[in-house]
Amino acid sequence: MKTIIEPFRIKSVEPLRKTTREERERRLEEAGYNLFLIDAADILIDLLTDSGTSAMSSEQWAALMRGDESYAGSRSFRRMESTVRELMGFRHVIPTHQGRAAERILFTVMCRPGDVVPSNTHFDTTRANIEQQGARAVDLPVAEAADTQSKFPFKGDMDVEALERLIETEGRQRIPLVMLTVTDNSGGGQPVSMRNIEAVSALALRHRIPFYLDACRFAENAYLIHIREHGYRTYFTPREVAQKMFRLADGCTFSAKKDAFANIGGFLCTNDDRLAEQEKNLLILTEGYPTYGGLAGRDLEAIAVGLEEILDPDYLEYRIASTAYLGRHIADHGVPIVEPPGGHAIYIDAGRMLEHIPRAQFPGQALAVEIYRHAGIRSVEIGSVMFGDKARHELLRLAIPRRVYTQSHIDYVVEAILEVNQAKERIRGLEMIHEPRVLRHFSARFRPL
Ligand code: F0G
Repeated sequence: MKTIIEPFRIKSVEPLRKTTREERERRLEEAGYNLFLIDAADILIDLLTDSGTSAMSSEQWAALMRGDESYAGSRSFRRMESTVRELMGFRHVIPTHQGRAAERILFTVMCRPGDVVPSNTHFDTTRANIEQQGARAVDLPVAEAADTQSKFPFKGDMDVEALERLIETEGRQRIPLVMLTVTDNSGGGQPVSMRNIEAVSALALRHRIPFYLDACRFAENAYLIHIREHGYRTYFTPREVAQKMFRLADGCTFSAKKDAFANIGGFLCTNDDRLAEQEKNLLILTEGYPTYGGLAGRDLEAIAVGLEEILDPDYLEYRIASTAYLGRHIADHGVPIVEPPGGHAIYIDAGRMLEHIPRAQFPGQALAVEIYRHAGIRSVEIGSVMFGDKARHELLRLAIPRRVYTQSHIDYVVEAILEVNQAKERIRGLEMIHEPRVLRHFSARFRPL
């Protein structure tokens, strides 16, 4: 059989509310054409993010009842800790309320003003947390990542020669750690190859610089290695690929809101006893005691179960195939996407699709607005609205929540985007009329031109 099905059935449902075009036009006006400012009740299909939006399994819901809410030494923490140790192999597992809290603690302990932290591409919270310490976040993506149309299979790779040059010019004392984001979210959801992880890890080791993974979507990255990189389909299960990735690192930050099917949670891992002690002291100040770190015992249970389920080969086959299904069905009809489709999202190259809209008029945002107006679908701009003049491309991200939407939902999304594409000359640009000083994409307001 060649049909790849959703490897689950539905036990509990949540109704979706349809709106009329007139209602959506009003909501857009009220929200200043910023989809973050529209209530979820007015969205039909929500592709804003894959973070915290997963459907939990019956096993996860059952595990919630087993949550041990003890302040110290909770059984639920021990369960999560042993699951993480088994999979990732790190000595210390420090729970946090989500990924960015792990980042804040890591960089507060490791970075000094003037330091430099390289990555393939830093996610925006990672960059912001590094800069908060007075350090510099440097992106070193491979050259292939610059061309959205290149079908290079590992566009999340880091440019290893550029890393070597950076270490030479800055000196290893200025570089407290090297990171790799798997998969590379800001760079189009693209995976990092095992070859590249090995090369970066070896280079960091040679210079005695700790090497960390931003592991939010480690399972999707592991599966893409499994199917795209020579030798890994035959000799390694996705779980073994993931274990191998983690064995090459000294630690990781993790948001359980992605590849752990949890609605909240995260953690920080390290093998370094001295660092772990400092990190736990900081954790107690703002997150909580080290055996719960800002989470309820039941959240820790959901994460432990989710980390087991995420590496199921049937799930991963369906997950990667369903993302590619959306990508191929729009790309093969002329909508330019970031090729090849990655793990958690399809990114439309809005700059290329809407050539008549200059960057200063935010083509990605204009497209997000039009897709909502046409069909009630919410997506997010990843371009000049989000990154200002640092934006490498004008992208629109359609992130796919895990286990939430069925193929007919995705067919509806495909139809909507193809209809918008057919009348794309009519889409007009936007002018930003309210610009907040920081993280402007969350609350900026626009006016149609
Ligand atoms: N690192 C990456 C690569 C991410 O994609 C995110 C979150 C984080 C770190 C921070 O994790 O949200 O748990 O604090 N990405 C979400 C997104 C918000 O929509 O891509 P968090």
